[in-house]
Amino acid sequence: MCGIVGYLGKRPAQPILIEGLKRLEYRGYDSAGVALCDGTRLSVVRSVGRIGNLQQRLAARGDDPSSLGIAHTRWATHGEPTEINAHPHTDASGRIALVHNGIVENYASLKEFLVGEGLAFRSQTDTEVLAQLVGYLYDGDLASAVRAALGRVQGTYGIAVISADEPGLLVAARKGSPLLIGVGDGEYIVASDPSAIVPHTDRVIYLDDGEMASITADAVRTVTLDNVPVDKTEARVELSLEQIELDGYEHYMLKEICEQPATLRNCLAGRLDVRDGRIQLGGVAAHLRQLATSGRITLIGCGTAWHAGLVGGYLFESLARMPAAVDYASEFRYRNPIIEPGTVVIAISQSGETADTLAALREARERGALVLGVVNAVGSTIARETDAGVYLHVGPEIGVASTKAFTGQLAVLTMLAMTLGRRRHMSIGMFESLLHGLSKIPDAIARALEQSDLIRGIAARNVERNNWLFLGRGLNYPVALEGALKLKEISYIHAEGMPAAEMKHGPIALISRGTPAVFIATRSEQYEKVISNMEEVRSRGGRLIVIGNEGDKQVSGLADEFIPVPEVPEPLAPMVNVVPLQLLAYHAAVIRGCNVDKPRNLAKSVTVE
Ligand code: F6R
Repeated sequence: MCGIVGYLGKRPAQPILIEGLKRLEYRGYDSAGVALCDGTRLSVVRSVGRIGNLQQRLAARGDDPSSLGIAHTRWATHGEPTEINAHPHTDASGRIALVHNGIVENYASLKEFLVGEGLAFRSQTDTEVLAQLVGYLYDGDLASAVRAALGRVQGTYGIAVISADEPGLLVAARKGSPLLIGVGDGEYIVASDPSAIVPHTDRVIYLDDGEMASITADAVRTVTLDNVPVDKTEARVELSLEQIELDGYEHYMLKEICEQPATLRNCLAGRLDVRDGRIQLGGVAAHLRQLATSGRITLIGCGTAWHAGLVGGYLFESLARMPAAVDYASEFRYRNPIIEPGTVVIAISQSGETADTLAALREARERGALVLGVVNAVGSTIARETDAGVYLHVGPEIGVASTKAFTGQLAVLTMLAMTLGRRRHMSIGMFESLLHGLSKIPDAIARALEQSDLIRGIAARNVERNNWLFLGRGLNYPVALEGALKLKEISYIHAEGMPAAEMKHGPIALISRGTPAVFIATRSEQYEKVISNMEEVRSRGGRLIVIGNEGDKQVSGLADEFIPVPEVPEPLAPMVNVVPLQLLAYHAAVIRGCNVDKPRNLAKSVTVE
C-alpha cells in the first residue's frame, strides 16, 4: 500500500526521503513523489513507476540542501497511477504540500464544496481534496488548519503536511492508517512504517488513532484531534528490516491471510452504508441500468479469480435472479462465445495483467459486450481496458498464492449481486439483513483466523498423505476448489476439489484408509446432503477434516478433525469458509519445507497465454 516518509532536521532531506521510500517499496506502489521546502518555497517532484524514475528527475535538478520535506509512494485507489495523481498534493497557493495514506470517504462532497468556493482541482484523487481543504482553512497556523480540515473528513488517514510559510514545522496525523515519528539527534523522521526509520534511529514515538503531532527542531507536540495535549513516551524499535516488512509474520502469504479482516473493511469502506440501507459502487453506477436488464452475464477469470467468478455466478442467480455463466478466460476466448446486444462480461483479476483474461475481455468488447472489471491493481491493463469496474482496495498481494484478493473479489461480487437483486426483486428486509451481515464479515473472518493453531495441528497430522479431496455443495463448491488449488500450488500435494455429490460418480474410488477428505459443511440449504456425503467417505475409511459452524455437534461428532467457523448468512459464507482452507494450505506447505511465497513453477502474474 502507500508509504509516507517525512524529514525535519539539519541534514539535506532529499537522500533520506528517497532511502526511506526505497525501504517501503516492498509494500507495492505505482508512482512516487517528494516535496522539499528550502525555507522560502516548496518544490514538488513526482513520477510514475519506480523510485528510480523519481531519482532521475531529482538528479536533473541538481543538489537540494532543503532540510524539510515529505515523500510518498502511491498505490492508486482514487484515480489512475499518473504523475498528476501522485503525491505530494498541494493547495491552491502551492505553498502547502501533503501526503496521505488511506481513503477520504466523503471526498466528493468536500470537493463539491471547495469547487463552489472557487477552487480548481488538478487530479482525480481524494488526497488533493484534503490538501486543498487545509489550504482553504489556513490562516497562518498550519497545525490548526490541519486539525480543522480533519474535523471535516470521514475516512482513514495517515498524513504528513508542510508549508513554505512555516518552514520549521512538520505536521503529522493519523486515524486508521499507521504513522510513527523516529527521533534522532536534532532530527525527526515521520514514516508509515518503521522500516523507513531504522537506518537512522531506533527511538520512536507511535502516534495513536485520532492523534496529531507538530514537529519542530527541538520538540514534538502531540495533541488529540480535539486539541487536547497527549503525553507520548518513546519506544525502541528492535526488529530487523525483514521482520518489519513482514510485520512479524514468517511469510507474506500468512500476513495476507491474517490481514483479511482489515483488507475487507477497506474493500467495504465507503460502499456499504448500513445506516441508510444502501450500497454504492461508484465505478459501475453509470451502467447499473444496463446491468440490471442484461439478458446474459458472463464472469471470466483464471485460477482463484475464476473460483471467485463461480461464487459470483451463484449469487447473480440466487440473489438477483439473473442468468449468469462462468467461464475460464482462456476457454471463453476460443469458444466462439455468444454475445448478444445487452450481454455483460465481468472480468475478474487481482493483477489486472493476466494475459488470458485480457485477451478474453478484448474479444468480448470487440463483439459488443459491455465489459466490467473486478480488479485489484489500479490502473492495470485490465482496469484500463474495461468499460467500467470496481476495484478491490485490498492492497498489493505479494505472496504468489492469492488469498486476500479472493475474499475481496467475493465481497465486490456480493455487493454487485445485492445491488442488482435490490433493483430487480429483492425485498428491502432481505437486502438490509444481508447488508448488516456483510458489514460483520471482517469480524467473522477474524474469528476464523483464531483457529490457526488448531489447523496447524491438523496439517501436521495429515501432511504425509499425497492425495486429498476437497468437497462442498452450492456456494461451498467453489470454496472447495479454492482450498484444493491452495494446497496443490504451495505444498505440491495433489488435491482435487469437486461438488460433494459428484464424488460418488467416480472420484470415490480414490478413497482408501486415511485419505484426507476436507468437507465444507457449514449450515446451508444442502447441509443434510453434505452430511450424507461425509458418511459415504467415512464408511470407506476416509479421514474427515470438516469445516462447520461453531457449536455444530452433529458435524463435529462425525468429523475426525473439526474446524469451527462463525455462522453467517449463507450467501456470505464463502468469505469466511475459505479462510481455514488458506491456513491449512499454508501450514501444510511450511511443514513440508516449501517456499510458501514463491512456489515452484509459478509466477505472481501470468502474462503469457
Ligand atoms: C492462485 C493464483 C492464480 C491467480 C490467477 C489469476 O493462488 O494466484 O490462480 O488467481 O493466475 O490471476 P489474476 O487474478 O491476477 O488475474
